[in-house]
Amino acid sequence: MYIVMLGAPGAGKGTQAEILARETGLPHIASGDLFRQALERGTEEGLRAKTYMDKGELVPDEITISMILQRVDSPDCAEGCLLDGFPRTLPQAEALDRAFEQRGKDIDRAIYIQVPEEELVKRLSGRWLCRSCQTSYHVITSPPETPGKCDKCGGELYQRSDDKKETVQDRLRVFFAQTMPILDYYKKQSKLITVNGNLDIQGVAGEIISALQAPMSR
Ligand code: AP5
Ligand code: MG
Repeated sequence: MYIVMLGAPGAGKGTQAEILARETGLPHIASGDLFRQALERGTEEGLRAKTYMDKGELVPDEITISMILQRVDSPDCAEGCLLDGFPRTLPQAEALDRAFEQRGKDIDRAIYIQVPEEELVKRLSGRWLCRSCQTSYHVITSPPETPGKCDKCGGELYQRSDDKKETVQDRLRVFFAQTMPILDYYKKQSKLITVNGNLDIQGVAGEIISALQAPMSR
């Protein structure tokens, strides 16, 4: 199964994709994580992406599309994957469909996690991430057992530089202008599932899993 996770910054795409990955065994592919890993390695692609990420802007489509297509062509994605943060422009969604058509694959579902804007800001300002395994924590709703340390791997926790208040506002603006149109794109293909993301983490996961089990009305 190929699933696209859609949602504003802080909606819980990464958190829910991790849960779904554990439930389904599908690999979790997060475009933002791939850019941050490229930056840690100091690659040209990572350094170029950073200039956009720091401003809360989208990385140009040609860089993003080729990075993701290369990743989904890996053997671990042969039976499916969970795409988190990609696509987020119409040209990206169209390029993904064209590439999948050539490979005899198809996107099965696009899950939109809907969360009110004031809640998004609260979530991003309290988020801490593991530098080694990218697990996401929140100071109030899902704190780590030991402050500053990842429960899963013991890695160091850090705050993302684009979670600063001003950059969050820019990311939200970009989401509403450039990514929201994709909802309609998947709705027209009868693939869109909208879930209430304003529940606790397990509550949202329950909504997603039952929506995936229900037949889609075409
Ligand atoms: P990316 O890394 O994808 O960031 P984003 O879309 O802004 O989303 P986030 O990762 O911030 O939020 P999330 O939805 O994953 O939430 P999370 O689960 O962590 O992209 C970063 C940048 O990379 C972009 O700005 C762009 O520059 C570039 N980029 C990436 N993809 C691109 C593309 N396709 N094209 C072009 N450029 C691209 O949860 C957030 C917090 O809330 C956590 O603390 C979590 O613990 C907490 N939380 C989660 N769920 C709940 C809940 N139900 N209740 C309470 N707390 C919750
Ligand atoms: Mg994320």
